[in-house]
Amino acid sequence: MAARAARNTLSVLAAIALSGAASGQEKVSVEQGLYISVIGGCHDCHTQGYREAGGKIDPTKAMKGDASIGWQSRLGVAYAPNLRLFAFIRDEDGFVQDMADLHETLPPMPWYNVRAIKEDDLRSLYRYLISLGDAGKPVPLASHEEPKTPYITIDPPTMPKK
Ligand code: HEC
Repeated sequence: MAARAARNTLSVLAAIALSGAASGQEKVSVEQGLYISVIGGCHDCHTQGYREAGGKIDPTKAMKGDASIGWQSRLGVAYAPNLRLFAFIRDEDGFVQDMADLHETLPPMPWYNVRAIKEDDLRSLYRYLISLGDAGKPVPLASHEEPKTPYITIDPPTMPKK
């Protein structure tokens, strides 16, 4: 009797473990990637026109970066790069690795927030980026040259008048 009860308990535990594994897989999805990209604020800078559209994502521009506005700091003028391309030139494991290792990008890129994204969510983000289709073109590289586009000066800050 005791042995049978123990066997039953074991098979219940195995069933729980299996269903846990199955729901673990469902956590990685294109929908979850979209969710992470929105609450992570990635579209704010990496999707042109997103802010102006009040958070409506233009599917032709989603995550293709923004070459229309530069971000100037003492370290140069940076443009939010095309993250579709970033994903396209990597496989999923490479993407997860490079996102988890991201460090010291130019301002205002919050690289430290990307490092806080959990592995499953990075996998979802990758699948979302790949699902967007056409990888598009790269944006200009950061440089110290005078920008040819409008730009926002983030550093040094404008000081209050005395
Ligand atoms: C406030 C604007 C802003 C936000 C918000 C933002 N980024 Fe960026 N991101 C940038 C800029 C500008 C750069 C370019 C930095 C540089 O040239 O060093 C960049 C660079 C990157 C890079 C490096 C790409 C490369 O080729 O090395 C990755 C990856 C990236 N961002 C991912 C993300 C993700 C994921 C999110 C959301 C969690 C996000 N960014 C949110 C502005 C932003």
